[in-house]
Amino acid sequence: MDLTVIVPTYNESLNVAELVRRITAATSHFQTEIIFVDDSSDDTPDVVRRVASSAGVPVRLLHRETPVGGLGGAVLAGLRMAQSDVCVVMDGDLQHPPEDIPRLYERYLSDDCDVVVASRYTGQGSADGLAGAVRTFVSRASTLLTKAMFPLRLRNCSDPMTGFFLVDRRRIDLETLRPRGFKILLELLARQPLRVAEISFAFADRLAGDSKASFRQGIFFLTQLAALRFGKMSAFALIGAFGALLNIAIVWALTGAGVGYIFAAIIAAETTIVGNFLLQERFVFGEMRDQASGAWSRFGKSFAFNNAEAVIRIPILALMVETWHFSAVVATAITLAVAFLARFMFHSLVVYAPKDGRAATRQRTLDALDAQVARPGEL
Ligand code: GDD
Ligand code: MN
Repeated sequence: MDLTVIVPTYNESLNVAELVRRITAATSHFQTEIIFVDDSSDDTPDVVRRVASSAGVPVRLLHRETPVGGLGGAVLAGLRMAQSDVCVVMDGDLQHPPEDIPRLYERYLSDDCDVVVASRYTGQGSADGLAGAVRTFVSRASTLLTKAMFPLRLRNCSDPMTGFFLVDRRRIDLETLRPRGFKILLELLARQPLRVAEISFAFADRLAGDSKASFRQGIFFLTQLAALRFGKMSAFALIGAFGALLNIAIVWALTGAGVGYIFAAIIAAETTIVGNFLLQERFVFGEMRDQASGAWSRFGKSFAFNNAEAVIRIPILALMVETWHFSAVVATAITLAVAFLARFMFHSLVVYAPKDGRAATRQRTLDALDAQVARPGEL
């Protein structure tokens, strides 16, 4: 098998036969199989079975009774069951012309890339098949936003929103993917550094049926962006915020019990630092603990950093207010934001650094940080 074509379908019964016919014709000079991963509520699965029985290439069907992850989850399921490591993902409504599959495959065979993207926004490509000015605007705007948030990972990709691409399954870690909804290519490209090549293609009109794009998919896309970009960082921030509340509660309780406020503040700060460390060990950096240095060494670094930060931040705050004439509120906000970023970077890159092979060059440090920030951060 040279190539597996994965087609996610949701109520596409009128398009299946034509799609299989055109894929078969377009890929006659290599060994191809087609996998439909179907979540339909109509008769699409029956149509796929009927078409499969007389098709010129192997056609397999996975009908999911309890669909997870929508379109993206379907593609992931298809990648898991593919016979070939080289997989083409395309929509089932013929908006992605099967005649472009050989160009994707030939580009892949040049052997300098892990993913080949069929782009509407490069060379001769076009997005004319998008229904209406609103869809076109949304597509353009979300592409710009996404590229701005992942300037390194997406530097060679002009169309991270496309649903038409080839991927070499051996180069991706399926376990790290958390697809939700339409943007499966973005999920692949943002989670790991991949070598991306592109071909241009013209996004065609839908053959039959209706688009499943919706406002809900738009919300999925935004939460996906946030999870990809700030996944670990947002869990880290949440624990930090919890620590701040704990800090205030301890000061309140101790001063209420008659303890002097300076002493109360010190006890509260140190308790919070220890509490935050324990929570971050468990929820943010859990999977990195094994490769990092020992628990006491990690705790020592974290404890030292947080104490130093508290000591340094106050004089800097004073300097900003007294000498540079920032307002106290603005200065506090800026120092807290910088301290937060510094704390995150220090923990990611130093406290939980793998024992061997510490990032030597600046580029490797940046890559490591990029990888951590994008890692799934579940709480
Ligand atoms: N299995 C499964 N489960 N398939 C789904 C689901 C689902 O929940 N939702 C949609 N699909 C299938 C559709 O049946 C179709 O084959 C394909 O995914 C794309 O869905 P469309 O409804 O045709 O989406 P679109 O044309 O509005 O958007 C497409 O093009 C955009 C621009 O290239 C998608 O590919 C988008 O991801 C892409 O950004
Ligand atoms: Mn479509």
